[in-house]
Amino acid sequence: MPRLLVATGNRHKTEEIGAILGGDWQLEDLNDHPDLTPAVEDGDTFEANAVKKALGISRQCPGVLVLADDSGLEVDVLGGAPGVRSARYAGTGAGDADNRIHLLAELARLDPPPPPPLTARFRCVLALARDGGTLGTFDGTVEGRMIRAQRGRGGFGYDPLFVPEGHEQTFAELPAEVKNGLSHRARALAAAIGSLQESGANPAAGSGT
Ligand code: IMP
Repeated sequence: MPRLLVATGNRHKTEEIGAILGGDWQLEDLNDHPDLTPAVEDGDTFEANAVKKALGISRQCPGVLVLADDSGLEVDVLGGAPGVRSARYAGTGAGDADNRIHLLAELARLDPPPPPPLTARFRCVLALARDGGTLGTFDGTVEGRMIRAQRGRGGFGYDPLFVPEGHEQTFAELPAEVKNGLSHRARALAAAIGSLQESGANPAAGSGT
C-alpha cells in the first residue's frame, strides 16, 4: 500500500481524507510524527498556505509523499471572511466552538441585517509534494448558505452553521458519507486523485524536483 503523510494535526481532516480515498493508502498525519515541525500558515491565499505546509513537511521527510490541505469558509456578507483566517478567526489558539461563536457575533453585528440567504462557500486547496518539490495543487469548492444558530453534532469547524446547496441540513447534521461525497475536500481530492495514484505507484516520481 502506498504511504501518504497528511501535513495536518487535525484528525478530522485526516479521517475525511481517508474516508474519501478509501482503504488503498497507508495514511499518517502529524499526530503520528510529533518530531516534525509544521510550517507557519502566514500566506494570503489557501494555495500559498497549502504549498507551504506540504513543502515544509516534505523537506523533513525525504522520499515520502506529502499531502497538505488548506481550507476555510468564505461568507459573502462578511467580504469573504473568515477565509484564510478560518482556523484562528476568534484569535490565535481559538478552538472551533470559539470561531463559530465569533462568526455568529459578526453576522449579528451587521446593520441592517442582511436578508437571507447568507451565501457562503467552503474552499479547499490541496498541495502534493515530495522531496521538497511541489507535484501539484488542486482546488475544490462547495457553495451553500450560513444559518444563524448551530445545528448538528457531526463534522468539525463551521459545519453546524453551513447548509450546502441542494440540502436543508447542515454539514454537521448530514451523514458523513453525504458530506464526504460533496465537500470542498472531496472535490479537491477528486481533482488530485490521478496525480496521487501516479505518485503513489511510482515512488521515484517527483524526486528532486
Ligand atoms: P486550516 O487547518 O488552516 O486549513 O484551517 C481550516 C479551518 O477552516 C478549520 O479550522 C475550520 O475552521 C475550517 N474548515 C475547513 N474545512 C472545514 C470543513 O470541512 N468543515 C468545517 N470547517 C472547515
